Amino acid sequence: VTLMGWVQKRRDHGGVIFIDLRDKTGITQVVFNPDIDSEVHKKAHGIRNEYVLAIRGRVSARPEGTVNPNLKTGEIEVLVNELSILNESHTLPFMLDENLELAENLRLKYRYLDLRRPCLQNNLLIRYKTTRSVRNFLDKNGFLEIETPFLTKSTPEGARDYLVPSRVNPGNFYALPQSPQLFKQLLMIAGFDRYFQIVKCFRDEDLRSDRQPEFTQIDMELSFITEEDIFQIIESMIVNIFRDVLGKEIPVPFARLCYNEAIDQFGLDKPDTRFGLKLKDVSDIFKNSKFKVFSSAVDKGGMVKSINVKGYANASRKELDNLVDHAKIYGAGGLAWIKIDSDQWNSPILKFLSEEEVSGLSKKMEAAPGDLLLFGAGKPKIVNDALGHIRLKLADTLKLIDRDSTNFAWVTRFPLFEYDGGEKRYKSLHHPFTAPFDEDVTKIEEEPEKVMSKAYDLVLNGSEIGGGSIRIHQKEIQEKIFKTLGIEREEAEKKFGFFLEALQYGTPPHGGIALGLDRLVMLLCKETSIREVISFPKTQKATCLMTESPSTIDNKQLAELSLKPIKKIK
Ligand code: AMO
Ligand code: AMP
Repeated sequence: VTLMGWVQKRRDHGGVIFIDLRDKTGITQVVFNPDIDSEVHKKAHGIRNEYVLAIRGRVSARPEGTVNPNLKTGEIEVLVNELSILNESHTLPFMLDENLELAENLRLKYRYLDLRRPCLQNNLLIRYKTTRSVRNFLDKNGFLEIETPFLTKSTPEGARDYLVPSRVNPGNFYALPQSPQLFKQLLMIAGFDRYFQIVKCFRDEDLRSDRQPEFTQIDMELSFITEEDIFQIIESMIVNIFRDVLGKEIPVPFARLCYNEAIDQFGLDKPDTRFGLKLKDVSDIFKNSKFKVFSSAVDKGGMVKSINVKGYANASRKELDNLVDHAKIYGAGGLAWIKIDSDQWNSPILKFLSEEEVSGLSKKMEAAPGDLLLFGAGKPKIVNDALGHIRLKLADTLKLIDRDSTNFAWVTRFPLFEYDGGEKRYKSLHHPFTAPFDEDVTKIEEEPEKVMSKAYDLVLNGSEIGGGSIRIHQKEIQEKIFKTLGIEREEAEKKFGFFLEALQYGTPPHGGIALGLDRLVMLLCKETSIREVISFPKTQKATCLMTESPSTIDNKQLAELSLKPIKKIK
């Protein structure tokens, strides 16, 4: 056989040299024995790690006792009689050992070396298999893959735009798309009926482990459909992906919760349904309580909610303090607790509670000896958010999550608008092109907060992996929505005039969805950051440590683009 690849490891055993030769398919042991060819053996002495070799030799069963059951090729080796050193390598800045904890900055600076590691090779293979499966599935189901422009106009998805200056139109800028939202709707107006695109999107927002400034969507749009149709198509597509990529069967249909249920029970709109610890509203029990933190919260239109952490009454003071601190990250004023020890209840707040409150609580929370009750009181948004995150933290600490389970859930019936107290105006919970429920159309102007929308999110193990909606296909409704969002007619005309006009030329009813490919692949690979499934990702500060972008440009180029820095740049 002839093999070409990289030297993973070289061992010299009393004259015989063993090399683990690596390529994308794995490792094979190749052997240089002076008895086979002394010239080749001599040449092999100079080989170091990561040299690139071509060898020719004979495949041979390994001698008894030297079989390596941990290696796919562990039963054989190749006895080399021809060697060509195709290239040498400097000593690498880090070892390519799988189990080594490497500083991420170093990994990103030398990403091309990091990518040599089998785990990342495998992640990118899984990513490829995912997109291949998606393309096959959508092709069979009558979808057409159509590209849309990157140099375009702002598409509002709630983030800041990345802008590109136009040289030939001084002072004018393109925006890179936050999503192809308007173009895919225009493709429906154009009559394509079923569109998809595996496409880069660009968003200038605060980055986290599941957010990158450029990321990939599996973007889809369909005409003449209902939400039900979309759920079915996506469920079949996901079943196919898991079958093709992991050989795993996923049960359908996925669970469904409406937004209000998700918030009530889990505190968050992307519930992790792999474990219990559901939130319960206990406001009623405490509305007249002597414990003012609770009663005044209810008094001011807020709420008191509780979680029963079964069997955690033995939590230490430090563990409780940590939970309180964690709740405060999400704006909570505190996190009251009651320990249900076998013979009595223990808590700093117990002295304020009446017998009636204790028995009401005991019943509602199904409290049993050994349990720990946790409480949040205050504004609903804060209580839900804080307890929702406490719930996730507890699942982690108490190891309540079965890492092999895959829990998909649809979250539906989102409010169309959300009031931004800071900016004192309504904002779209999804985006401004989402259709309201037919029966709510009349409330758009008078009671925007009561309008429910035909929007849905797909959640996998507590991570939002997709979102979409049925769209507005009537110009008058679209205009009303813009108005409620505080986008005046003139501004709407300037930003979306082309789209509003298009809506008038026979727009079919349509809807769609976009799945976050990076997040989906991250979960398929059981990784905890999307950076592990992106070939060349950016840091939290949106920089590429390898190419050192973004970077300054020289004055000539600035002048050509009619740009001038307003601050002196170092
Ligand atoms: P949305 O904004 O919900 O919807 O995006 C769809 C999915 O894309 C993923 N995602 C991201 N992944 C990585 N990094 C990011 N910065 C990032 N932002 C979003 C998420 C998300 O669920 N045009 C609509 C879709 C539609 O209505 O059809 C849209 O873009 O997994
Ligand atoms: P304090 O009255 O601040 O000493 O708080 C008494 C107990 O109530 C402490 O255990 C606090 O953590 C808890 N607590 C305070 N504010 C809140 C709140 N908004 N929600 C839940 N518990 C709270």
